[in-house]
Amino acid sequence: MTYAAITAVASWLPERRLTNADLERMVDTNDEWIRTRTGISERRIADEGDATSDLAARAGALAIQRAGIEPGDVDMLIVATSSPDMSFPSTACLAQAKMGLTCPAFDINAACTGFIYAIEMAAAMIEAGRLKTVVVVGAEVLSRLVDFTDRTTCILFGDGAGAVVLAASEEPGILSVHLGADGTGADLLTVPAGGTAKRLTPELLAAGEQYIHMNGNEVYKFAIRAIPRVTKQALAESGLELKDVDWLVPHQANQRITDTVGESLGIPHENVVSAIANTGNTSTASIPLALDSLYQSGELHRGDVLAFVGFGAGLTYGAAIVRWTKED
Ligand code: UT7
Repeated sequence: MTYAAITAVASWLPERRLTNADLERMVDTNDEWIRTRTGISERRIADEGDATSDLAARAGALAIQRAGIEPGDVDMLIVATSSPDMSFPSTACLAQAKMGLTCPAFDINAACTGFIYAIEMAAAMIEAGRLKTVVVVGAEVLSRLVDFTDRTTCILFGDGAGAVVLAASEEPGILSVHLGADGTGADLLTVPAGGTAKRLTPELLAAGEQYIHMNGNEVYKFAIRAIPRVTKQALAESGLELKDVDWLVPHQANQRITDTVGESLGIPHENVVSAIANTGNTSTASIPLALDSLYQSGELHRGDVLAFVGFGAGLTYGAAIVRWTKED
């Protein structure tokens, strides 16, 4: 049996920081409200000249370097994003060229759950014996989709990219993945115009329909319902139990969601990975970014069990149970 395992993780963040103090000067908000309601202190903003594919290429190239492989060894590049450079070509094709890869490349859009969906695709292709090495990137430049006059959303989102290399392995790394979607909740989190449903017109632009629109309270309720359930489903499919989880790596949307979910699963606070304070919500980049922060901290060890769990627009949700097989 061929298994799939993560052999490297990396991330890339823009230099520019947008702090809560900066936002206080832009909309009617304050640092205390943002920190207590979300846990966010600052988020990163991509340079004007950078698009999502640039961030994806930097994180992906670093992951390839850390895996100790050559670009020619990569069999497939998957980029999960909700903020593509353009409708087409795919952000993955644009990043592929920037990374000097020659392999097939495609995008996945499952919003903030995109990284988990991409892990499932990559692991399935490796376990089936079709491919040996797949680079999975989660990358976003959400600042281009944010209305910086809307205090309910502009305080949340940031830009960044994270990447992993998945490779064929004799020992199991991706133990199970459980995915879900409920399209009846599609209207809760959208960028309404600019696609085929609503062609951009001067009227729609003036109404701000090219930006993120969110019913935050409903998404919040969905998250705290869906995350514990899907984590338990994925765990049951892996044959493990909650007590076996060393690290919960949730999508970084709101520190209150992370705390509530950690408590309801009975996972100690110090084992719930949080990276939101300095990055904000980077959508599908947030899980690999949080994983890389854990890896860089030196606390992640061979044999540890991780539960990645995501939720987001769609509505989508998903969890992956992963054993860390990399040598310390
Ligand atoms: O990646 C997945 C997608 N997104 C999410 O996961 C987001 C999930 N939702 C959330 O994180 C939270 O619902 C928010 C952070 C978006 C909002 O927090 P909340 O505690 O649910 O606040 P709320 O929407 O219930 O608003 C409470 C009050 C309101 O004022 P009133 O009506 O009580 O007078 C808002 O107008 O806070 C007000 N408010 C703000 N005040 C200062 C809303 N945004 C702000 C703000 N600064 N930025």
